[in-house]
Amino acid sequence: MKILLSVLVIVVCLVACESINNVPPVSPQMAVATKGRPAGVALLRNGRTLLVHRCITCHTLPPLWHYNTEDWPAIVDSMSHRASLKPAERDAMVAYILAVRSQK
Ligand code: HEC
Repeated sequence: MKILLSVLVIVVCLVACESINNVPPVSPQMAVATKGRPAGVALLRNGRTLLVHRCITCHTLPPLWHYNTEDWPAIVDSMSHRASLKPAERDAMVAYILAVRSQK
């Protein structure tokens, strides 16, 4: 019984950790990592919130590592009408995605 429970805990953690890795929470280091295009922590948090709320209404959240950094601004542009993003919201989302990607 105990073993079953531990297995369950591990499985739940794996699934949860996977989704967290996909859209990692914003850290101050992440704001620093945006070389060339400095973005504040608040802006990045806003971008993350928008991403996890607005981009899952039609499909699952696209994995951030799945597309090239250079392609992301255009992808968000092409989806911003569908997600009814205002220009500032689009910018915040792109800043968050690029910050995540520039960490690796
Ligand atoms: C109103 C529905 C809707 C919303 C909201 C939406 N999408 Fe999409 N998305 C689609 C559809 C439909 C497709 C597949 C057809 C296409 O590529 O046009 C798609 C495809 C994609 C793809 C795959 C494109 C490719 O070329 O492989 C990505 C990445 C994506 N969406 C990202 C996002 C992001 C980021 C957001 C939030 C800003 C978002 N989507 C919001 C409907 C939506």
